[in-house]
Amino acid sequence: MYTTEIGTDLAKAKQLLEQGELVAIPTETVYGLAGNGLDSNAIAKIYAAKNRPQFNPLILHVGSIEQMEKWVEVIPDVCRLLIQHFSPGPITYLLPKSDQVPELITAGSSRVALRIPAHPVTLQLLNSLEFPLAAPSANPSGYVSPVSSQHVFQGLNGKIPYIIEGGSCKIGLESTIVGFQDNKVVVHRLGGISIEEIKAVCNTEVVLQLAHAQPTAPGQLKSHYATKKLLLHGDIKENMLLLTGKKIGILSFNTNYHISNSIEYVLSTNGSLSEAASGLFSAMRSLDQSDVDVILAEFFPDEGLGKSINDRLARAAYPNKYDR
Ligand code: TXA
Ligand code: MG
Repeated sequence: MYTTEIGTDLAKAKQLLEQGELVAIPTETVYGLAGNGLDSNAIAKIYAAKNRPQFNPLILHVGSIEQMEKWVEVIPDVCRLLIQHFSPGPITYLLPKSDQVPELITAGSSRVALRIPAHPVTLQLLNSLEFPLAAPSANPSGYVSPVSSQHVFQGLNGKIPYIIEGGSCKIGLESTIVGFQDNKVVVHRLGGISIEEIKAVCNTEVVLQLAHAQPTAPGQLKSHYATKKLLLHGDIKENMLLLTGKKIGILSFNTNYHISNSIEYVLSTNGSLSEAASGLFSAMRSLDQSDVDVILAEFFPDEGLGKSINDRLARAAYPNKYDR
């Protein structure tokens, strides 16, 4: 057991990481649970603290493209283009790993996931370290990702020594994960950079490949991002009909449903998908901790970040269409 502290002491965070301990770090997407990505003991601690299955690989976080080059065999031209436009930022690249990347990081795969996060404090930390940081989202495996230091504390209190306070996460959804195959960009997880944005800067084909069955595919585990309470994703009024006598929690985009005795979160009254994304996980957690019986989330517009929001809600929902 640790006494978990929240603070802004970067020297302390650096020292703990150098000693093989874990530190939760703020990023623009969600908070990460970081450890030395080259130290198998630290990596084992990450899996243990999160109770995460060992077949689910970890993203390596670095502070610059120069650092990225060290951990990969090659960076294709189209990837360099994406890096130029979107990194530091909410996008992760799957690239052929170099020999120095431990197998534990990639769960045996020949590709490693790399990301340069856009948070000034974490960038400063990364650029002061001699090693990359392995960092999954800082939540117990399967639960909603944390977008504040308090969320991290709620899930990991006693399991880690230090949480860096970095405010609430601006993007609020995990990074988009892309790989490269036959001169195509393959999107494996929808996230903070939309497909439309990627298409706008690429001169190659962009395909969506959200594999569901393989356990080593990104972000695809059964009932991921899930609240403990039942969540239904779909038409709010239709789902209401199934639930007489239940207290309802509502997650909507910009419509207020005015349902009596409900708790309602309208994520963006002026219809901004990025504002809705940044409020989504906090609202899911609040409803999960409230006295509602069931959470009803509507379909968000199927465009831009709306696709990423719908993806997270579909994975949190019952029946989960990815469960098969
Ligand atoms: O925004 C983010 O990406 C956050 C912040 C902390 O950077 N991190 C994050 O990590 O969401 P995590 O572990 O919760 O999700 C990473 C996903 C996992 O679903 C994992 O399966 C996939 O990335 N992944 C990691 N390495 C991979 C690899 N070598 N091949 C395929 N998928 C990989
Ligand atoms: Mg996660």
